Amino acid sequence: MNDKLAELRALAQEKIAKAESVQQADALRVEFLGKKGKITDMLKSMKDMAPEERKSFGQVANETKAQIEKMIAEKMSSLKAAARQAQLLSQTIDVTEPGTSIPLGTRHLITQTIDEVTRIFMSMGFSLAEGPEVETVFNNFDALNAGPNHPARDMTDTFYIDDKILLRTQTSPVQVRTLMAQKPPIAVIAPGRCFRCDTPDATHSPMFHQIEGLVVDEGITMADLKGVLDSFAKQMFGSSTKTNFRPHHFPFTEPSAEMDVSCFKCGGKGCRVCKGSGWIEILGCGLVHPNVLKVGGLDTEKYTGFAFGMGVERIAMLKYELDDIRLLYENDIRFIEQFK
Ligand code: DAH
Repeated sequence: MNDKLAELRALAQEKIAKAESVQQADALRVEFLGKKGKITDMLKSMKDMAPEERKSFGQVANETKAQIEKMIAEKMSSLKAAARQAQLLSQTIDVTEPGTSIPLGTRHLITQTIDEVTRIFMSMGFSLAEGPEVETVFNNFDALNAGPNHPARDMTDTFYIDDKILLRTQTSPVQVRTLMAQKPPIAVIAPGRCFRCDTPDATHSPMFHQIEGLVVDEGITMADLKGVLDSFAKQMFGSSTKTNFRPHHFPFTEPSAEMDVSCFKCGGKGCRVCKGSGWIEILGCGLVHPNVLKVGGLDTEKYTGFAFGMGVERIAMLKYELDDIRLLYENDIRFIEQFK
């Protein structure tokens, strides 16, 4: 009988030596030591033995069991250590390896232009104002002194939602909102999106951006307008930039003007950018019409103001010599990335 135990131990030893994983070693533990295992079977067979035989067999069987337990435990711990080692090796991090580069975005040219203009005016004490893109006809036209027969109100120029609501055609309604919400002294700048029924081509887009400015206080004159806008032009286009104001007409300003800057490309000699004239038209401006000030309930004998509005796309196109406005909306990363 004791030979059988020796055989069993040899078999266990052989199998344990061959085990390659913790799972295999555990299966051997069940096979030899489990409730229905080989050793247990042998111990069960003891009940049919003579008492002396049973005693010596039991002793050897228990020793064998202990030996197999020990072999399995040792195997288990060496397999676990090896598995851990393999795991550590497979997870080694090379800290000197260069990281994956994350592509950095670029601010869109329109955003850059708005930020630049806004920064300049904020440095002169202006604060930021906002208005909705979906506006009332009143704020977009009536309150801006553009009466019922004003040509801009035409269905063919304006996206109407209904007869009282439209997509704003200009940022000028922010003037109205500001006058209704604030008391002078007022100095605000209002960038934003505008909409007009234009068929897209190289110079037109049904959606575009403007930046509006409004200053209202006691004693504001055309000299303030010229001083502020001339300073803006020098900061935006270079310190040697000259400005020229030409009379114009806008319903919400009186007098009204358009401001030209000396060409920042050729310095005024005449080139492709300024179409040979040496001057580039940049914005519309004027002294706020008393009818507009009245919308804000202001005493027009006491308060005066000036306003201006410029097209963002126009400035970006001139500055970067873009020949097609649609480049600004296609969002082709190869185009945008050129203006990092
Ligand atoms: N809103 C005008 C336009 O869209 C631009 C403009 C002109 C704004 C003169 C002004 C201004 O505030 O004073 O053409």
